[in-house]
Amino acid sequence: MKGTLKGIILAGGTASRLMPLTKVTNKHLLPVGRIPMIYHSINKLRDAGIEEILIVTGVNHMGDVVSLLGSGKDFNCKFTYKVQDEAGGIAQALALAENFAGSDPVAVILGDNIFEDPMSGYLQDFDGSGAHIILKEVHDPQRFGVAETDGRNVINIEEKPQSPKSRLAVTGIYFYDADVYNVIRTLKPSARGEFEISDVNNHYIQAGKMSCSYMNGWWSDAGTFESLARVQQLIEEAPPK
Ligand code: DAU
Repeated sequence: MKGTLKGIILAGGTASRLMPLTKVTNKHLLPVGRIPMIYHSINKLRDAGIEEILIVTGVNHMGDVVSLLGSGKDFNCKFTYKVQDEAGGIAQALALAENFAGSDPVAVILGDNIFEDPMSGYLQDFDGSGAHIILKEVHDPQRFGVAETDGRNVINIEEKPQSPKSRLAVTGIYFYDADVYNVIRTLKPSARGEFEISDVNNHYIQAGKMSCSYMNGWWSDAGTFESLARVQQLIEEAPPK
């Protein structure tokens, strides 16, 4: 690995799809199994040996997030916090990590993504340069970034396509080198007005600097009532490793 891998948990956004559960609290503080949702991302990073973790969230609930998590000493990690003023997209939230990560590579987890496999397996596939994504076959690819492959490599990603070219969802676990901030500076907002992580990933694909792994265990986002209920069930059946 070139440099020391740092962790980033993106826990902003409006969570409008979970109203009224998210009217007075942040989605990532809702219970998933017996712990708040955000603990799952922290556990994954810490169990992979990543101790320096940046948590990005919005203005409304930063106080509650800090009250819950503190400095990180209870988790044997060091937390840094950054405020995203408006929910302008995942890439915009990631841009806030530039000073924190410096020239080091980063492992990014979307805070509403819950998954069974340990992170350490994917770390072996990322050497700290370029970008690395994790793909998972799903029955409802229209809800996600969808990867088109030539059998071996990812050749394009479409964000929430109406006619997906595959069933391979791009999961919310990403690895980037320190070039990612320069890539984000070139982006323009999408039709939904957000700086899209899929645009960042397509940039790396076009530069020939993207690699991918496939996820074996279960994976789900928890951003809708259906997926949140599904995650609770999956956790009961097979707790994350
Ligand atoms: O779950 C994986 C999917 O996540 C990917 O397949 C998609 O390519 C990617 O765009 C994303 O899709 P969603 O539209 O479902 O993302 P959502 O807006 O629900 O945000 C996911 C997480 O990112 C959420 O837990 C909080 C964080 N986030 C999101 C936004 C828009 C931020 O921290 N800041 C933001 O501005």
